[in-house]
Amino acid sequence: MARRKKPRFLLALETSCDETSAAVLERGRILSNIILSQDEIHSPYGGVVPELASRQHIKTIDYVVAMSLSQAGVSLEDIDLFAVTQGPGLIGSLLVGLTFAKGLAYYFHKPLIGVDHLQAHIEAAFLENPQIEYPVLALLVSGGHTSLYFLEKPLSYQLLGKTRDDAAGECLDKVAKFLQLGYPGGPVIERLARGGDSSRFHFSLPRMKTAGYDFSFSGLKTAALKIIRENRLTANHQLLRDFLASFEETVARALLENVHKALEEFRPAALVLCGGVARNTRLRTRFSELAAGCGLPSFVPSPRLCTDNAGMVGALAWKKYLAAPVTAADLELDAYPR
Ligand code: KG4
Ligand code: ZN
Repeated sequence: MARRKKPRFLLALETSCDETSAAVLERGRILSNIILSQDEIHSPYGGVVPELASRQHIKTIDYVVAMSLSQAGVSLEDIDLFAVTQGPGLIGSLLVGLTFAKGLAYYFHKPLIGVDHLQAHIEAAFLENPQIEYPVLALLVSGGHTSLYFLEKPLSYQLLGKTRDDAAGECLDKVAKFLQLGYPGGPVIERLARGGDSSRFHFSLPRMKTAGYDFSFSGLKTAALKIIRENRLTANHQLLRDFLASFEETVARALLENVHKALEEFRPAALVLCGGVARNTRLRTRFSELAAGCGLPSFVPSPRLCTDNAGMVGALAWKKYLAAPVTAADLELDAYPR
């Protein structure tokens, strides 16, 4: 009987929010990772418009896939495994990627692996640092999620806490929208906050009424909007830099307080920071300071791998495949918004 050929090339798709992305990996190593952002489309609205997002994914997905294949120097016939983000995310957007991936897997009779978007964000750190030792405490901070995970071993995810209201990225985006700074807010705030005095404005940190590791950012957002109104801050105001630096610093402190709290109980061997907001230099710095202060190694993906990309999806799919090889495409695979 002919032996089944060991898989080599994997094509991964990511369409959970407002980035259309496709990546080709060779034995878990990224050959191409094409990311087409929809920022320009959503910017006038100050946030992602779900209907526009899914329509744009439909328009661009075949182009993005073709680009990823050509940059990797392979053709669709060479692909041994397909992978796709199943959720969480915008349901219409997720369905575009999922349906496209199902079609390819069905046509080429190849396995299809569904991947959780949040777990994929964490995988971005392992992709660049396969030597990370377990157990790992991972802080995921994105536009849609703010969660703290404990990974006792590879592919085991214990959710310790998540935001009860806004995600940290959403909080940055909403404050930027209020100031009419554009979308996404995080990068604009980071740019304008540079050189600002972060002790100029005082925010009190959100206090959770119950024990545990949940986050809350809506109070901080309300406090920020109050300061903006009281000081009549606008995009050109001389105090804007100081305000944004203070706000950014507070968001970082609120995030890291929970990490610090969890260290005592979970005693991880390494710390990981990931998700779109992990691109933020101030947060990256504070995170590595916290880890160094506790004598722990810390890992943050390079900026391009922090925001949504199919490379991280492919990396996790490859790991899942090695742990439990599948031979056929599961065409029942469903998308989940939450
Ligand atoms: O992970 P991601 O690409 O998408 C989601 O899964 O949500 O994260 C997007 C979020 C947005 O809220 C954006 O404002 C934020 O990441 N972000 C940043 C920076 N770059 C992106 N936040 C702070 N500083 C940045 N440099
Ligand atoms: Zn994401």
